[in-house]
Amino acid sequence: MDKIRIRGGRPLHGEIMIGGAKNASLPLMAAGLLTEERLVLGNVPRLADIDTMTSLLAQHGIAVDPVGNDGRTLSLGGAITSTEAPYDIVRKMRASILVLGPLLARCREARVSLPGGCAIGTRPVDLHLKGLEAMGAQIELEAGYINATAPGGLRGAMIVLPFASVGATENLMMAAALADGQTIIANAAREPEIDDLARCLIAMGARIEGLGTGTLTIEGVKALHAAKHNVIPDRIETGTYACAAAITGGTVLLRGADLSHLAAVRSVMDSAGVELTAEPDGVRVTRRNGLHGTDAMTEPYPGFPTDMQAQFLVLMSVAQGAAMVTETIFENRFMHVSELTRMGASINVHGASAIVRGVPSLSGAPVMATDLRASASLVIAGLAAHGETIVNRVYHLDRGYEALEQKLAACGADVERIAG
Ligand code: EPZ
Repeated sequence: MDKIRIRGGRPLHGEIMIGGAKNASLPLMAAGLLTEERLVLGNVPRLADIDTMTSLLAQHGIAVDPVGNDGRTLSLGGAITSTEAPYDIVRKMRASILVLGPLLARCREARVSLPGGCAIGTRPVDLHLKGLEAMGAQIELEAGYINATAPGGLRGAMIVLPFASVGATENLMMAAALADGQTIIANAAREPEIDDLARCLIAMGARIEGLGTGTLTIEGVKALHAAKHNVIPDRIETGTYACAAAITGGTVLLRGADLSHLAAVRSVMDSAGVELTAEPDGVRVTRRNGLHGTDAMTEPYPGFPTDMQAQFLVLMSVAQGAAMVTETIFENRFMHVSELTRMGASINVHGASAIVRGVPSLSGAPVMATDLRASASLVIAGLAAHGETIVNRVYHLDRGYEALEQKLAACGADVERIAG
Protein backbone atom coordinates (compact mmCIF):
# COMPACT_ATOMS: atom_id res chain seq x y z
CA MET A 1 0.00 0.00 0.00
CA ASP A 2 1.32 3.43 -0.95
CA LYS A 3 2.31 5.98 1.66
CA ILE A 4 2.76 9.74 1.52
CA ARG A 5 5.80 11.32 3.20
CA ILE A 6 5.60 14.99 4.19
CA ARG A 7 8.25 17.22 5.73
CA GLY A 8 6.28 20.11 7.19
CA GLY A 9 6.86 23.77 7.91
CA ARG A 10 6.90 25.17 4.37
CA PRO A 11 4.22 27.76 3.45
CA LEU A 12 2.26 26.99 0.30
CA HIS A 13 2.47 29.61 -2.46
CA GLY A 14 1.20 29.42 -6.02
CA GLU A 15 -1.91 27.93 -7.54
CA ILE A 16 -3.83 24.65 -7.48
CA MET A 17 -6.21 23.49 -10.22
CA ILE A 18 -9.54 22.40 -8.72
CA GLY A 19 -11.11 19.42 -10.48
CA GLY A 20 -14.70 18.41 -11.11
CA ALA A 21 -16.75 17.40 -8.07
CA LYS A 22 -16.51 13.72 -7.14
CA ASN A 23 -19.91 13.85 -5.45
CA ALA A 24 -21.52 15.33 -8.55
CA SER A 25 -19.73 13.04 -11.01
CA LEU A 26 -20.92 9.80 -9.39
CA PRO A 27 -24.70 10.49 -9.61
CA LEU A 28 -24.18 12.06 -13.04
CA MET A 29 -22.60 8.82 -14.25
CA ALA A 30 -25.52 6.84 -12.80
CA ALA A 31 -27.82 9.12 -14.83
CA GLY A 32 -26.26 7.53 -17.92
CA LEU A 33 -28.55 4.56 -17.18
CA LEU A 34 -31.61 6.74 -17.73
CA THR A 35 -31.29 7.04 -21.51
CA GLU A 36 -30.47 4.71 -24.40
CA GLU A 37 -28.75 7.67 -26.06
CA ARG A 38 -25.33 9.06 -25.23
CA LEU A 39 -24.59 11.19 -22.17
CA VAL A 40 -21.31 13.11 -22.40
CA LEU A 41 -19.83 14.41 -19.15
CA GLY A 42 -17.02 17.00 -19.10
CA ASN A 43 -14.68 18.04 -16.26
CA VAL A 44 -14.88 14.60 -14.64
CA PRO A 45 -12.06 14.12 -12.10
CA ARG A 46 -9.66 11.19 -12.49
CA LEU A 47 -10.29 9.31 -9.24
CA ALA A 48 -10.54 5.74 -8.01
CA ASP A 49 -14.25 6.20 -7.30
CA ILE A 50 -14.85 7.22 -10.93
CA ASP A 51 -13.09 4.02 -12.03
CA THR A 52 -15.31 2.00 -9.68
CA MET A 53 -18.47 3.59 -11.07
CA THR A 54 -17.14 2.93 -14.59
CA SER A 55 -16.76 -0.77 -13.82
CA LEU A 56 -20.22 -0.90 -12.26
CA LEU A 57 -21.82 0.70 -15.33
CA ALA A 58 -19.92 -1.74 -17.56
CA GLN A 59 -21.47 -4.55 -15.51
CA HIS A 60 -24.87 -3.13 -16.48
CA GLY A 61 -23.85 -2.92 -20.16
CA ILE A 62 -23.12 0.80 -20.24
CA ALA A 63 -19.77 1.68 -21.82
CA VAL A 64 -17.89 4.68 -20.42
CA ASP A 65 -15.59 5.87 -23.21
CA PRO A 66 -13.01 8.63 -22.82
CA VAL A 67 -13.37 11.46 -25.34
CA GLY A 68 -10.19 13.28 -26.32
CA ASN A 69 -6.99 12.57 -24.42
CA ASP A 70 -7.28 14.33 -21.08
CA GLY A 71 -9.39 11.60 -19.50
CA ARG A 72 -11.81 14.18 -18.11
CA THR A 73 -14.53 13.88 -20.76
CA LEU A 74 -16.53 10.66 -20.69
CA SER A 75 -19.14 9.44 -23.16
CA LEU A 76 -21.65 7.01 -21.67
CA GLY A 77 -23.87 4.80 -23.81
CA GLY A 78 -25.17 1.34 -24.56
CA ALA A 79 -28.10 -0.92 -23.79
CA ILE A 80 -28.67 -2.17 -20.26
CA THR A 81 -27.85 -5.90 -20.27
CA SER A 82 -27.92 -6.59 -16.54
CA THR A 83 -29.83 -5.05 -13.64
CA GLU A 84 -27.57 -6.56 -10.99
CA ALA A 85 -25.06 -4.49 -8.99
CA PRO A 86 -22.82 -7.11 -7.35
CA TYR A 87 -21.47 -6.97 -3.81
CA ASP A 88 -17.81 -7.05 -4.87
CA ILE A 89 -18.25 -3.71 -6.64
CA VAL A 90 -20.78 -2.07 -4.32
CA ARG A 91 -18.68 -2.79 -1.21
CA LYS A 92 -15.85 -0.69 -2.68
CA MET A 93 -18.02 2.38 -3.08
CA ARG A 94 -21.33 3.07 -1.32
CA ALA A 95 -22.40 5.52 -4.01
CA SER A 96 -23.11 2.43 -6.15
CA ILE A 97 -26.57 2.54 -4.56
CA LEU A 98 -27.28 5.41 -6.99
CA VAL A 99 -27.88 2.91 -9.82
CA LEU A 100 -30.98 1.59 -8.03
CA GLY A 101 -33.38 4.38 -8.97
CA PRO A 102 -32.29 4.58 -12.63
CA LEU A 103 -32.44 0.76 -13.09
CA LEU A 104 -35.93 0.61 -11.61
CA ALA A 105 -37.06 3.52 -13.76
CA ARG A 106 -35.68 2.07 -17.00
CA CYS A 107 -36.04 -1.72 -16.47
CA ARG A 108 -38.68 -1.99 -13.75
CA GLU A 109 -36.37 -4.26 -11.77
CA ALA A 110 -33.02 -4.15 -9.98
CA ARG A 111 -30.92 -6.37 -7.75
CA VAL A 112 -28.43 -4.16 -5.93
CA SER A 113 -26.18 -5.23 -3.09
CA LEU A 114 -26.80 -3.37 0.15
CA PRO A 115 -23.81 -1.01 0.44
CA GLY A 116 -23.09 -1.76 4.08
CA GLY A 117 -21.43 0.70 6.38
CA CYS A 118 -18.04 2.36 6.32
CA ALA A 119 -15.60 3.92 8.78
CA ILE A 120 -17.77 6.98 9.39
CA GLY A 121 -21.07 5.28 10.04
CA THR A 122 -23.64 2.56 9.36
CA ARG A 123 -24.84 4.49 6.31
CA PRO A 124 -28.36 2.99 5.97
CA VAL A 125 -30.34 3.41 2.74
CA ASP A 126 -33.82 3.16 4.26
CA LEU A 127 -34.85 6.58 2.93
CA HIS A 128 -33.93 5.52 -0.62
CA LEU A 129 -36.03 2.35 -0.29
CA LYS A 130 -39.05 3.98 1.38
CA GLY A 131 -39.16 6.64 -1.32
CA LEU A 132 -39.05 4.07 -4.11
CA GLU A 133 -41.79 2.04 -2.40
CA ALA A 134 -43.92 5.21 -2.31
CA MET A 135 -43.42 5.31 -6.10
CA GLY A 136 -44.80 1.77 -6.41
CA ALA A 137 -41.66 -0.34 -6.17
CA GLN A 138 -41.85 -3.70 -4.34
CA ILE A 139 -38.67 -4.18 -2.34
CA GLU A 140 -37.35 -7.22 -0.52
CA LEU A 141 -34.01 -7.60 1.25
CA GLU A 142 -32.48 -11.05 0.78
CA ALA A 143 -28.95 -12.32 1.35
CA GLY A 144 -27.51 -8.82 1.53
CA TYR A 145 -29.21 -7.68 -1.66
CA ILE A 146 -32.03 -5.28 -2.45
CA ASN A 147 -34.47 -7.05 -4.78
CA ALA A 148 -36.66 -4.33 -6.27
CA THR A 149 -39.38 -4.61 -8.90
CA ALA A 150 -41.94 -2.20 -10.32
CA PRO A 151 -44.06 -4.39 -12.64
CA GLY A 152 -46.39 -1.59 -13.64
CA GLY A 153 -43.60 0.95 -13.78
CA LEU A 154 -42.89 3.66 -11.20
CA ARG A 155 -45.56 6.25 -10.54
CA GLY A 156 -45.29 9.77 -9.19
CA ALA A 157 -45.66 10.22 -5.43
CA MET A 158 -45.50 12.75 -2.61
CA ILE A 159 -42.33 12.01 -0.63
CA VAL A 160 -41.29 13.82 2.54
CA LEU A 161 -37.72 12.96 3.55
CA PRO A 162 -37.32 12.89 7.36
CA PHE A 163 -33.69 13.91 6.77
CA ALA A 164 -32.35 15.87 3.80
CA SER A 165 -30.38 12.86 2.54
CA VAL A 166 -28.12 13.66 -0.44
CA GLY A 167 -28.14 10.13 -1.88
CA ALA A 168 -31.85 9.55 -1.33
CA THR A 169 -32.65 12.86 -3.04
CA GLU A 170 -30.48 11.88 -6.02
CA ASN A 171 -31.87 8.35 -6.33
CA LEU A 172 -35.48 9.49 -6.05
CA MET A 173 -35.04 12.43 -8.43
CA MET A 174 -33.58 10.13 -11.09
CA ALA A 175 -36.34 7.55 -10.58
CA ALA A 176 -39.04 10.24 -10.73
CA ALA A 177 -37.69 11.63 -14.01
CA LEU A 178 -39.15 8.59 -15.83
CA ALA A 179 -42.07 7.80 -13.49
CA ASP A 180 -45.68 8.13 -14.59
CA GLY A 181 -47.01 11.40 -13.14
CA GLN A 182 -45.78 14.00 -10.70
CA THR A 183 -43.37 13.40 -7.83
CA ILE A 184 -42.78 15.93 -5.08
CA ILE A 185 -39.73 15.44 -2.87
CA ALA A 186 -40.09 17.60 0.24
CA ASN A 187 -37.13 18.24 2.55
CA ALA A 188 -34.85 17.38 -0.37
CA ALA A 189 -31.12 17.93 0.00
CA ARG A 190 -29.93 21.25 -1.45
CA GLU A 191 -26.25 20.53 -2.03
CA PRO A 192 -24.79 22.04 -5.24
CA GLU A 193 -24.25 18.47 -6.48
CA ILE A 194 -28.03 17.95 -6.40
CA ASP A 195 -28.56 21.06 -8.52
CA ASP A 196 -25.85 19.88 -10.90
CA LEU A 197 -27.57 16.51 -11.34
CA ALA A 198 -30.95 18.21 -11.84
CA ARG A 199 -29.53 20.53 -14.50
CA CYS A 200 -28.08 17.55 -16.35
CA LEU A 201 -31.40 15.67 -16.16
CA ILE A 202 -33.21 18.76 -17.47
CA ALA A 203 -30.73 18.90 -20.36
CA MET A 204 -31.67 15.26 -21.02
CA GLY A 205 -35.36 16.25 -21.20
CA ALA A 206 -36.48 15.81 -17.60
CA ARG A 207 -39.00 18.22 -16.10
CA ILE A 208 -37.77 19.34 -12.68
CA GLU A 209 -38.64 22.48 -10.71
CA GLY A 210 -37.63 23.87 -7.32
CA LEU A 211 -33.85 23.67 -7.64
CA GLY A 212 -32.19 24.87 -4.45
CA THR A 213 -35.46 25.25 -2.56
CA GLY A 214 -35.63 21.97 -0.67
CA THR A 215 -38.83 20.96 -2.49
CA LEU A 216 -38.36 19.32 -5.88
CA THR A 217 -41.30 18.80 -8.26
CA ILE A 218 -40.65 16.31 -11.04
CA GLU A 219 -43.07 15.60 -13.89
CA GLY A 220 -42.17 12.17 -15.29
CA VAL A 221 -41.52 11.86 -19.03
CA LYS A 222 -41.52 8.81 -21.29
CA ALA A 223 -37.83 8.93 -22.19
CA LEU A 224 -34.71 11.01 -21.75
CA HIS A 225 -32.35 11.89 -24.59
CA ALA A 226 -28.69 12.61 -25.23
CA ALA A 227 -27.01 15.56 -23.53
CA LYS A 228 -23.61 17.04 -22.75
CA HIS A 229 -22.95 18.35 -19.25
CA ASN A 230 -19.90 19.74 -17.47
CA VAL A 231 -19.41 18.79 -13.83
CA ILE A 232 -19.25 21.63 -11.28
CA PRO A 233 -15.94 22.22 -9.47
CA ASP A 234 -15.33 20.22 -6.29
CA ARG A 235 -16.18 22.44 -3.30
CA ILE A 236 -14.68 19.97 -0.82
CA GLU A 237 -11.39 19.74 -2.72
CA THR A 238 -11.45 23.56 -2.70
CA GLY A 239 -12.02 23.71 1.06
CA THR A 240 -9.39 21.06 1.69
CA TYR A 241 -6.65 23.01 -0.11
CA ALA A 242 -7.84 26.23 1.52
CA CYS A 243 -7.14 24.64 4.90
CA ALA A 244 -3.76 23.40 3.65
CA ALA A 245 -2.76 26.89 2.51
CA ALA A 246 -4.07 28.48 5.72
CA ILE A 247 -2.32 26.10 8.12
CA THR A 248 1.04 26.71 6.41
CA GLY A 249 0.57 30.50 6.37
CA GLY A 250 0.79 30.66 2.60
CA THR A 251 -1.43 32.18 -0.06
CA VAL A 252 -2.77 30.10 -2.93
CA LEU A 253 -5.10 30.64 -5.90
CA LEU A 254 -7.55 27.74 -6.20
CA ARG A 255 -8.09 27.89 -9.97
CA GLY A 256 -11.58 27.00 -11.20
CA ALA A 257 -13.14 27.01 -7.71
CA ASP A 258 -16.64 28.43 -7.17
CA LEU A 259 -16.85 30.40 -3.92
CA SER A 260 -20.66 30.54 -4.11
CA HIS A 261 -20.72 26.85 -3.09
CA LEU A 262 -18.72 27.56 0.07
CA ALA A 263 -20.57 30.33 1.91
CA ALA A 264 -20.61 28.54 5.27
CA VAL A 265 -16.96 27.49 4.96
CA ARG A 266 -15.97 31.03 3.97
CA SER A 267 -17.76 32.49 6.99
CA VAL A 268 -16.17 30.11 9.50
CA MET A 269 -12.71 30.45 7.94
CA ASP A 270 -13.05 34.24 8.03
CA SER A 271 -13.74 34.09 11.76
CA ALA A 272 -10.68 31.91 12.10
CA GLY A 273 -8.54 34.54 10.34
CA VAL A 274 -8.46 33.13 6.82
CA GLU A 275 -9.83 35.06 3.84
CA LEU A 276 -11.40 33.31 0.87
CA THR A 277 -11.92 35.84 -1.92
CA ALA A 278 -13.45 35.30 -5.36
CA GLU A 279 -11.23 36.18 -8.31
CA PRO A 280 -12.04 35.99 -12.04
CA ASP A 281 -10.53 32.52 -12.37
CA GLY A 282 -10.98 31.03 -8.94
CA VAL A 283 -10.72 31.60 -5.20
CA ARG A 284 -7.73 33.12 -3.40
CA VAL A 285 -6.85 31.94 0.09
CA THR A 286 -4.89 34.31 2.35
CA ARG A 287 -4.30 34.33 6.08
CA ARG A 288 -4.56 37.72 7.76
CA ASN A 289 -2.35 37.05 10.82
CA GLY A 290 -2.71 34.25 13.36
CA LEU A 291 -5.40 31.58 13.40
CA HIS A 292 -8.20 32.04 15.94
CA GLY A 293 -10.18 29.23 17.56
CA THR A 294 -13.67 29.21 15.97
CA ASP A 295 -16.59 26.85 16.57
CA ALA A 296 -18.13 24.91 13.69
CA MET A 297 -21.14 22.59 13.43
CA THR A 298 -21.78 20.39 10.41
CA GLU A 299 -25.25 20.62 8.85
CA PRO A 300 -26.94 19.83 5.55
CA TYR A 301 -26.27 22.42 2.83
CA PRO A 302 -26.11 25.41 3.00
CA GLY A 303 -24.65 24.70 6.46
CA PHE A 304 -21.02 23.80 7.13
CA PRO A 305 -20.33 20.56 5.21
CA THR A 306 -19.55 17.38 7.11
CA ASP A 307 -16.95 16.61 4.42
CA MET A 308 -14.98 19.64 5.64
CA GLN A 309 -15.13 18.79 9.36
CA ALA A 310 -11.84 16.88 9.65
CA GLN A 311 -9.89 19.43 7.61
CA PHE A 312 -11.18 22.38 9.65
CA LEU A 313 -10.54 20.56 12.90
CA VAL A 314 -6.85 20.26 12.01
CA LEU A 315 -6.68 23.98 11.29
CA MET A 316 -8.10 24.64 14.75
CA SER A 317 -5.53 22.33 16.34
CA VAL A 318 -2.85 25.02 15.86
CA ALA A 319 -5.07 28.09 16.31
CA GLN A 320 -4.92 30.52 19.25
CA GLY A 321 -7.59 29.55 21.74
CA ALA A 322 -10.14 26.75 21.64
CA ALA A 323 -12.78 25.58 19.20
CA MET A 324 -15.77 23.26 19.49
CA VAL A 325 -16.35 21.23 16.34
CA THR A 326 -19.68 19.38 16.28
CA GLU A 327 -20.54 16.60 13.84
CA THR A 328 -24.30 16.25 13.35
CA ILE A 329 -24.43 14.21 10.13
CA PHE A 330 -22.46 11.02 10.79
CA GLU A 331 -22.15 9.05 14.01
CA ASN A 332 -18.45 8.19 13.78
CA ARG A 333 -16.59 10.91 11.97
CA PHE A 334 -13.82 11.68 14.46
CA MET A 335 -11.51 8.83 13.42
CA HIS A 336 -8.80 11.40 12.61
CA VAL A 337 -8.68 12.65 16.22
CA SER A 338 -6.61 9.78 17.63
CA GLU A 339 -4.02 10.17 14.87
CA LEU A 340 -3.87 13.94 15.30
CA THR A 341 -3.39 13.47 19.02
CA ARG A 342 -0.32 11.39 18.22
CA MET A 343 0.99 14.45 16.36
CA GLY A 344 0.60 16.57 19.49
CA ALA A 345 -2.89 17.99 18.97
CA SER A 346 -5.01 18.61 22.08
CA ILE A 347 -8.50 17.33 21.24
CA ASN A 348 -11.18 15.84 23.49
CA VAL A 349 -14.21 14.20 21.93
CA HIS A 350 -17.45 14.33 23.93
CA GLY A 351 -20.22 12.60 21.98
CA ALA A 352 -20.84 14.55 18.78
CA SER A 353 -18.48 17.38 19.71
CA ALA A 354 -14.70 17.70 19.75
CA ILE A 355 -13.08 20.34 21.94
CA VAL A 356 -9.86 21.48 20.25
CA ARG A 357 -7.32 23.50 22.24
CA GLY A 358 -4.76 25.09 19.94
CA VAL A 359 -1.11 24.11 20.44
CA PRO A 360 1.90 26.09 19.16
CA SER A 361 2.79 23.38 16.68
CA LEU A 362 2.28 19.75 15.71
CA SER A 363 5.08 17.21 15.37
CA GLY A 364 5.43 14.78 12.50
CA ALA A 365 4.66 11.10 13.07
CA PRO A 366 3.65 7.95 11.18
CA VAL A 367 -0.18 8.04 11.02
CA MET A 368 -2.95 5.88 9.60
CA ALA A 369 -5.63 7.03 7.17
CA THR A 370 -9.09 5.62 7.92
CA ASP A 371 -11.45 7.36 5.50
CA LEU A 372 -11.25 9.86 2.69
CA ARG A 373 -11.57 13.16 4.52
CA ALA A 374 -9.70 11.96 7.63
CA SER A 375 -6.78 11.11 5.32
CA ALA A 376 -6.85 14.63 3.90
CA SER A 377 -6.77 16.07 7.41
CA LEU A 378 -3.64 14.05 8.21
CA VAL A 379 -1.90 15.44 5.13
CA ILE A 380 -2.86 18.96 6.20
CA ALA A 381 -1.46 18.25 9.66
CA GLY A 382 1.78 16.96 8.13
CA LEU A 383 2.19 20.14 6.09
CA ALA A 384 2.24 22.19 9.30
CA ALA A 385 4.06 19.76 11.58
CA HIS A 386 7.72 19.97 12.51
CA GLY A 387 9.56 16.96 11.14
CA GLU A 388 8.40 14.09 8.99
CA THR A 389 4.91 12.63 8.71
CA ILE A 390 4.16 9.37 6.94
CA VAL A 391 0.50 8.88 6.04
CA ASN A 392 -0.28 5.18 5.55
CA ARG A 393 -3.14 3.63 3.54
CA VAL A 394 -3.35 6.53 1.08
CA TYR A 395 -5.71 4.51 -1.11
CA HIS A 396 -8.37 6.33 0.90
CA LEU A 397 -7.05 9.62 -0.49
CA ASP A 398 -6.98 8.37 -4.06
CA ARG A 399 -10.76 7.92 -3.93
CA GLY A 400 -11.37 11.65 -3.75
CA TYR A 401 -8.23 13.68 -4.45
CA GLU A 402 -6.59 13.69 -7.89
CA ALA A 403 -2.80 14.16 -7.92
CA LEU A 404 -2.76 15.52 -4.36
CA GLU A 405 0.97 15.29 -3.80
CA GLN A 406 1.75 16.86 -7.18
CA LYS A 407 -0.63 19.78 -6.50
CA LEU A 408 0.94 20.40 -3.09
CA ALA A 409 4.53 19.97 -4.28
CA ALA A 410 3.88 22.52 -7.05
CA CYS A 411 3.12 25.04 -4.28
CA GLY A 412 6.34 24.35 -2.40
CA ALA A 413 5.39 21.50 -0.08
CA ASP A 414 8.01 18.82 0.61
CA VAL A 415 5.76 15.84 -0.13
CA GLU A 416 6.23 12.61 -2.04
CA ARG A 417 4.41 9.32 -2.56
CA ILE A 418 6.25 6.16 -1.53
CA ALA A 419 5.07 3.12 -3.45
CA GLY A 420 4.32 0.35 -0.98
C1 EPZ B 1 -23.18 11.99 0.40
O1 EPZ B 1 -23.29 10.74 1.07
C2 EPZ B 1 -21.72 12.16 0.06
N1 EPZ B 1 -21.28 11.10 -0.84
C3 EPZ B 1 -20.88 12.15 1.35
O2 EPZ B 1 -19.53 12.40 0.99
C4 EPZ B 1 -21.37 13.28 2.24
O3 EPZ B 1 -20.65 13.23 3.46
C5 EPZ B 1 -22.87 13.13 2.51
O4 EPZ B 1 -23.58 13.08 1.25
C6 EPZ B 1 -23.43 14.27 3.33
O5 EPZ B 1 -23.21 15.47 2.70
C7 EPZ B 1 -21.57 11.20 -2.16
O6 EPZ B 1 -22.21 12.14 -2.61
C8 EPZ B 1 -21.08 10.10 -3.05
P1 EPZ B 1 -26.66 11.26 3.14
P2 EPZ B 1 -24.76 10.12 1.37
O7 EPZ B 1 -27.61 10.32 2.51
O8 EPZ B 1 -25.64 10.37 0.22
C9 EPZ B 1 -28.32 9.14 7.06
C10 EPZ B 1 -17.22 12.06 0.95
O9 EPZ B 1 -16.33 12.12 1.81
N2 EPZ B 1 -29.16 8.39 6.12
O10 EPZ B 1 -26.94 12.73 3.08
O11 EPZ B 1 -24.59 8.73 1.83
C11 EPZ B 1 -26.87 8.68 7.00
O12 EPZ B 1 -26.67 7.58 7.85
C12 EPZ B 1 -18.54 11.38 1.25
O13 EPZ B 1 -17.11 12.54 -0.22
C13 EPZ B 1 -30.13 7.53 6.62
O14 EPZ B 1 -30.30 7.40 7.83
O15 EPZ B 1 -25.19 11.03 2.60
C14 EPZ B 1 -26.10 9.88 7.45
O16 EPZ B 1 -26.07 9.89 8.86
C15 EPZ B 1 -18.60 10.85 2.67
N3 EPZ B 1 -30.89 6.83 5.73
C16 EPZ B 1 -26.93 11.04 6.95
O17 EPZ B 1 -28.25 10.51 6.68
C17 EPZ B 1 -30.73 6.94 4.38
O18 EPZ B 1 -31.47 6.28 3.61
C18 EPZ B 1 -26.38 11.69 5.70
O19 EPZ B 1 -26.48 10.77 4.68
C19 EPZ B 1 -29.73 7.81 3.89
C20 EPZ B 1 -28.97 8.54 4.77
